[in-house]
Amino acid sequence: MAGNFITFEGPEGAGKTTVLGILQEELSKKGYDVVSTREPGGIDISEQIRSVILDKNNTKMDGRTEALLYAASRRQHLVEKVLPALEEDKIVLCDRFVDSSLAYQGYARGLGIDEVLSINEFAINGLMPSLTLFFDIQPEKGLTRIRKNDEREVNRLDLETLSFHQKVYEGYLTVANRFKGRFHIVNAENSLETVTKEAFEIIEKHLNKG
Ligand code: TMP
Repeated sequence: MAGNFITFEGPEGAGKTTVLGILQEELSKKGYDVVSTREPGGIDISEQIRSVILDKNNTKMDGRTEALLYAASRRQHLVEKVLPALEEDKIVLCDRFVDSSLAYQGYARGLGIDEVLSINEFAINGLMPSLTLFFDIQPEKGLTRIRKNDEREVNRLDLETLSFHQKVYEGYLTVANRFKGRFHIVNAENSLETVTKEAFEIIEKHLNKG
């Protein structure tokens, strides 16, 4: 498969979405053909699944249902948007991917990283990112950031307890350790400028590796 599939991961309030937007522009200016997208969502069917998953009224949602809905949304997004872009040799920057499911559903919800990986293997059918940036921020700090941001819509997962978000963080460290080869950690507690610069350098180095 040609192209380059790069994912952005991290707890709530790590700033990855903002950084992704800036990097898309920077890379485009440098002549790279870049597509940016997000999970869950990115295309119509997956955005519809996103609204079901994140609806604050869906308090009865079972953990396995949640994991399956994320995987279903992922599958459709991959087929409709990610794979066609990679086939056209583009760089795809994706805000969250399978590692979010491993950290949130596998570890924090307690479904098991291997169990959640196995349903996702069915969904992604072998397509893993070539590079994953982990935006590292202590969960308390990330949550403080998002609570200060009035424009951001609060979703069902934001309303989870601090201890859930601490588990998400631990989950990410476990997953990062398991997939050391593709994970790069960026200190997201630094200023936006520093974080963006560091992320940009990691991506350029990766692209130049061929
Ligand atoms: P966002 O806030 O980054 O748009 O992501 C929506 C929420 O969904 C966020 O709380 C993380 C969560 N999530 C999972 O729990 N599992 C997943 O597989 C993905 C992609 C997101």
